[in-house]
Amino acid sequence: MKNITNICCIGAGYVGGPTMSVIAQKNPHIKVTCVDLNEARINAWNDDNLDNLPIYEPGLAEVVKEARGRNLFFSTEVDEAIDKADMIFISVNTPTKTYGEGKGKAADLKYIELCARQIARVAKDDKIIVEKSTLPVKTAEALKSILHNTGNGVSYQILSNPEFLAEGTAIQDLQNADRVLIGGDDTEEGREAMQQLVNIYASWLPQERILTTNVWSSELSKLVANAFLAQRVSSINAISELCEVTGADVSEVSRSIGMDSRIGSKFLKASVGFGGSCFQKDILNLVYIASSLGLQEVADYWEQVILMNDYQKHRFARKIVKTLYNTVADKKIAFLGWAFKKDTNDTRESAAIYVAEKLLQEQANISIYDPKVKKEQIITDLENLGTLDPEAIHKRITVVSNPYEAMKEAHAVAILTEWDEFAAYDWQKVYDNMMKPAFIFDGRGILDLKNLTKIGFQLFSLGKSN
Ligand code: NAD
Ligand code: UGA
Repeated sequence: MKNITNICCIGAGYVGGPTMSVIAQKNPHIKVTCVDLNEARINAWNDDNLDNLPIYEPGLAEVVKEARGRNLFFSTEVDEAIDKADMIFISVNTPTKTYGEGKGKAADLKYIELCARQIARVAKDDKIIVEKSTLPVKTAEALKSILHNTGNGVSYQILSNPEFLAEGTAIQDLQNADRVLIGGDDTEEGREAMQQLVNIYASWLPQERILTTNVWSSELSKLVANAFLAQRVSSINAISELCEVTGADVSEVSRSIGMDSRIGSKFLKASVGFGGSCFQKDILNLVYIASSLGLQEVADYWEQVILMNDYQKHRFARKIVKTLYNTVADKKIAFLGWAFKKDTNDTRESAAIYVAEKLLQEQANISIYDPKVKKEQIITDLENLGTLDPEAIHKRITVVSNPYEAMKEAHAVAILTEWDEFAAYDWQKVYDNMMKPAFIFDGRGILDLKNLTKIGFQLFSLGKSN
């Protein structure tokens, strides 16, 4: 069996960048080249100042520092990297389709297909192709068809190796993965290709955590894993509203049910709604697959997870308006947090965007502080909604780099992301400088309810009867 000595990864984003960095760190004998069409992104990956890497992830800069220039390279020379590689990971984006059949639900596979056609055009020797992007079940069949029908007569093995890292903990998740999943064909060549990929991961993970399955199980398991995780968040969020009206406390309910080892304690934190680039996209994809196969009850079941999430975001925004005497027009609302979760600068599908949309429609002025998200990103997120007047966005949104400034003279503070630093602020100082009554809406359940109430705040915390 040939040893893999040269890996290429197409797509240097949130998955490609960190994953290839760790593979290179743990396999110094393998040359790993991560390529992307986006020149600015590649330049940022190559920046001497590690603070300028295109992605913020705890621990990432250290890994890049160790491997970059040794056996880890970032480049825009896609053809050259494909040509030299024994194994090619495809880690490009697979967003929800915004046009045509399946619009708003199905995964848009145009970037994947472009990669396949490019590989077929360039490759002059046998390659192992690894699906790292999250894909609808059966995509490997389409890849195979393109590669075999448009290629130079070389042979391909297609593996599915979905990524389970979560943002904010990507490096930890990669270095200490619960499991790595590899799907391949049950043929001699398929088993050999799987073993070659197993060997790469086995350089740092115990063999028993590396699962091999058939390709379809692997592709489908990724969508199902995300659907199950998101379903837990929607389930506890549904219970949060029930807690508010019954006097139960959602964090106590979470703890009580989570201690049952059959339920488990993770992913039971009530919130203003899950965000991120994948949960919604992957569930919609699952819903689309089920309904196009005629499994309408299955589709409806999973769609409810999304509907509940939308409801939670809107409910939080409505609560703010209602509590502020049914009008937020021209009032200053401070947002703490814009990222979809702590420890990342990623804002894709962040609940903050949708809460802001509602409040802007009510003509509120919003002052935003997030430790890692820049103003341009926030404005782009709001403009991309397509539902708001760009002039109103510029007029009513302020982004500041000091949280106390964001909250100064505000009518209300809303916690949208669970950054640790928020709980440690001098809340007495915040209170003294706010309009009265001083309202706080904790969408993440991170503040000390008793202490803040003692200071004088009027506090609403999701899942608690305030
Ligand atoms: P991303 O948008 O951050 O990165 C994708 C990159 O691919 C972009 O930089 C883009 O320029 C590049 N690209 C697109 N087409 C290209 C081409 N033809 N040639 C070269 N480069 C090309 O996306 P991401 O968050 O890294 O996600 C990638 C895939 O991984 C998606 O399928 C996603 O569902 C999946 N995934 C994401 C996460 C996550 O935490 N973000 C976790 C697990 C799985
Ligand atoms: C998620 C999965 O956890 C990863 O395994 C998967 O690889 C990834 O999606 C993907 O395919 O993209 P990620 O979206 O980065 O990772 O982050 P999560 O920690 O899963 O959080 C997702 C959202 O759910 C965040 O908005 C978070 O705040 C929210 N959440 C999470 C809650 O509201 N409550 C919880 O208890 C947990």
